[in-house]
Amino acid sequence: MIGYLRAGDIPSKRHIAHYVGGQLLNEYCFTREGFDQPFSTLYLFNPPTGETSAEIYSEACGSKPAKRDNLPLRRRHFKSGLLLPSGDFITGRKILTFNEDLNYGLCHPLKSGEAFFANNDADELFFLFKGAMEMQSLFGKLSLTAGDYLIVPRSCPYRFNFASPPQLLFVEARNGLQVPPAFLNGAGQFKMDAPYSERSFKTPEWDGPLFEKESPTAIVRKRQGSFTKTLYKNNYFRMSGWDGNVYPCALNLKDILPKTGRTHLPPSSHLTFIGKGFAVMSFLPRLLDYDKEAVPCPFYHSSVNCDELLFYVSGQFTSRKTVGQGSISFHPSGIPHGPHPGAYKGSIGLKETREEAVMVDTFAPLTLTEESAVLEDPDYPNSWKEEVP
Ligand SMILES: [Fe+2]
Repeated sequence: MIGYLRAGDIPSKRHIAHYVGGQLLNEYCFTREGFDQPFSTLYLFNPPTGETSAEIYSEACGSKPAKRDNLPLRRRHFKSGLLLPSGDFITGRKILTFNEDLNYGLCHPLKSGEAFFANNDADELFFLFKGAMEMQSLFGKLSLTAGDYLIVPRSCPYRFNFASPPQLLFVEARNGLQVPPAFLNGAGQFKMDAPYSERSFKTPEWDGPLFEKESPTAIVRKRQGSFTKTLYKNNYFRMSGWDGNVYPCALNLKDILPKTGRTHLPPSSHLTFIGKGFAVMSFLPRLLDYDKEAVPCPFYHSSVNCDELLFYVSGQFTSRKTVGQGSISFHPSGIPHGPHPGAYKGSIGLKETREEAVMVDTFAPLTLTEESAVLEDPDYPNSWKEEVP
């Protein structure tokens, strides 16, 4: 997604014999959308087909969403801090809302978990709200810190290791996730005015313990919402090296360059990633609009074909009264919203904002789940009541 990488020992050409220590290695092509789109090629000591068992993983089946019906159409507020830690990074996922293109949820795992996970239904986007952890994957290890986005390509096995429980926001993108093509030039290089570049990303590093030691492994795979745990006699991940354009990568909010304008810029100017049916935007600390008559607060708006989910990360949220760090506002299609009462006028003259927030706009309508009801703030609609002078 962000360019070609290579690691370890690989042969000079694709599809030729590659011997290491006298052993012929197994060439494994990890492809996307058939064989014409980006792919990576790995050289494995053990065939990737060497499973000894494949069983339904009932511990994870509880993470299937149950939808809430007959809800009135209105603005909503969910407090992620109310979610009690549970399970691991597979079983601890709580889907708050979903549509045909994505699942959107939270994961506050209690423990790291030993099995690897591969989501065969979706590319995944994580946002690490709190904590620090290491990701181990088929392509290497990544050190993750608070404020990191993590992109995991569909079907890539990975797991998280952490010393203390992290808090994660996640999006499972059923129909793909990518950097906006408008950020790239004809050679696939990030343009000069893109909000980030190749240098901004963390990419996988060689994972000696995983790639070089022989030990049994387990991979839990999700397909059509069901989970299967597959056991391998030999180390699935043991390899000499890999190369290609498909691999996990991470980008921290602090490494994204926000756009500023003379007057207020629309949310689309803060675009970070796109998927089929949705867009991800990052609101970052920045100087505010510099026209002397500018109103820095967002204008009221009705995005008539978008449902909007906004996760508040840090800072003082001057446009919203009742939200705080870890809040998620849900503003469905066609319902006007913008600054809370009083915030619009109060923003005039402000020079900068320290807010950080992550927004997901979807084009297909979102369905809320029972998990969301536990986190919902019932007083949020009252916070929008305007006092008419
Ligand atoms: Fe909005």
